[in-house]
Amino acid sequence: MFNMLNKRSDSRQVRPSIGAPWHDALVSWSLLNLFARLGSKPYDWMYRRGAPWESGPRPALVELCEMGRVSAEQLHPGRAIDLGCGTGVDSLYLTERGFDVVGVDFSQVAIRRARESAAHLRRPPRFVIADLLQLPSEAVPGPFDLLFDGGTLDDFPPNLRPDVAAAITQLARPGSLFVMWCFYAQSSDLPRLSFQGSSRWGAPPIEPGEEQALFGDEWQIETFGPADQGSACFVMVKH
Ligand SMILES: C[S@@+](CC[C@H](N)C(=O)[O-])C[C@H]1O[C@@H](n2cnc3c(N)ncnc32)[C@H](O)[C@@H]1O
Repeated sequence: MFNMLNKRSDSRQVRPSIGAPWHDALVSWSLLNLFARLGSKPYDWMYRRGAPWESGPRPALVELCEMGRVSAEQLHPGRAIDLGCGTGVDSLYLTERGFDVVGVDFSQVAIRRARESAAHLRRPPRFVIADLLQLPSEAVPGPFDLLFDGGTLDDFPPNLRPDVAAAITQLARPGSLFVMWCFYAQSSDLPRLSFQGSSRWGAPPIEPGEEQALFGDEWQIETFGPADQGSACFVMVKH
């Protein structure tokens, strides 16, 4: 939520910290709690106006597809889920690449826009309004061969991330591929407030090592590209 601007850019400068950490933690905690209570409403509001992260498919995903690492032929039968799909650009891209895609998001506005942009397709992605914390569900049963998260898990408050990670893992089968792009930095290295990316008063980025704590037991984790410029892309294979 707070990690919202420039979310499509795959690199970002992290500035040194200033100020008292307990104070920043308190402000961040209060803001996160406020937004957690509002649920999908702030996202709906942003999607009505054009959310700041909206643009083409995520470059790391495109690169992985073009180099053949993410391929519907290899990930047979090619069932893919776009976790927190927003207006569906990555879902549409994966559909073009031959995947049978389900895009999930709790923002009704985003899903309506995603459905509109896919309306011309003969075999469009299936867009579902659902809370990721409630998955798997009847509407979104696993397993998926490819799971993709383009900047969603890092929008969750840290205390909810283990539940989201558990839901993601339940949607997979042995051999599934999970591609996760996220803001990635030590929170204490961030500026207090930034409109260019994550900040200490916003949703904390995924911290170095947190990916291991969240997924390391069930997934083999590889970093794709640089992970030291404020964001990272991980490619994980389910044991
Ligand atoms: C920063 S946006 C990224 C959207 C999309 N992946 C993209 O790159 O354009 C995070 C997305 O996660 C969705 N989201 C956040 N919390 C969610 C939840 N609990 N259940 C379902 N979707 C959620 C938001 O509605 C939003 O679309």
